[in-house]
Amino acid sequence: MSAVHRPRRVERLVRGQATQDGAGVRLTRVLTHDLQQRLDPFLMLDAFGSDSADDYIAGFPDHPHRGFETVTYMLQGRMRHRDSRGNEGLLQNGDVQWMTAGRGLIHSEMPEQEEGVMEGFQLWLNLPSHLKLCEPRYQDIPNTALPKVQPSAGVEVTVIAGAVEDKAGPIQSEHTQPAFWDVRFTADGTFEHPIAEGHHAFVYVYRGSVTVLSDAGAQEVPRERMGLLDNAGDGLRLSAKAGAQAIVLAGKPLHEPIAQYGPFVMNTREQLMQAVEDFRAGRMG
Ligand code: CO
Repeated sequence: MSAVHRPRRVERLVRGQATQDGAGVRLTRVLTHDLQQRLDPFLMLDAFGSDSADDYIAGFPDHPHRGFETVTYMLQGRMRHRDSRGNEGLLQNGDVQWMTAGRGLIHSEMPEQEEGVMEGFQLWLNLPSHLKLCEPRYQDIPNTALPKVQPSAGVEVTVIAGAVEDKAGPIQSEHTQPAFWDVRFTADGTFEHPIAEGHHAFVYVYRGSVTVLSDAGAQEVPRERMGLLDNAGDGLRLSAKAGAQAIVLAGKPLHEPIAQYGPFVMNTREQLMQAVEDFRAGRMG
């Protein structure tokens, strides 16, 4: 692993917005609409976590997507996915689902439990303009297929996308080069890793708290906060006590116009109108 010489500092701390989506699932929108340009190519990040069935039981019945990719990381609980192309899968216990909506499909994501904890993340990753209408693609990745790396004492990283040391995660996207790491501190420790210059990056803490170390000093990122990292610097350096856990996201910006209408993300208003028309006419999935 190449060393980090100029670790990035926290540009700002972001508190997510409590909201509801689907048929009434309570979640925290960590990456909201107003951060789409700043965190290009990431369009959205939702965190959900509850032990109350009322918060998740309604699930996400049939709905369309076009123009981007969704990555679902299911930490705890059981969620069944079905889509209009005949794909079906059960996500549980650290499994990941990677779906490239491309030109469009209709899918549902429904809980398969009536009690207990449901916890995880859904990330929306943009596609470059020339791939927005590509053939849809779908992949279920069991947790056992995700590389687990121990880059330093007390630190365990699950690699979902990008690479840590020499271990590459199953999700690789040429144009956006996403990194998606789940960093768990099993003891007090420090994790540092290069991030390509110019790539947009952030940390979201979901257990304990994590300190971002840089030349600007030490910035604590508490639980349920995003630490949005500045674009200068060649990597990140995190320290935390045992029990802390955070996800790290980084990606190469596309620098293209972003036009969103609900579940459709295109480059222009005309393309959005076309998406709505295609959906209404049954031409999606
Ligand atoms: Co969806």
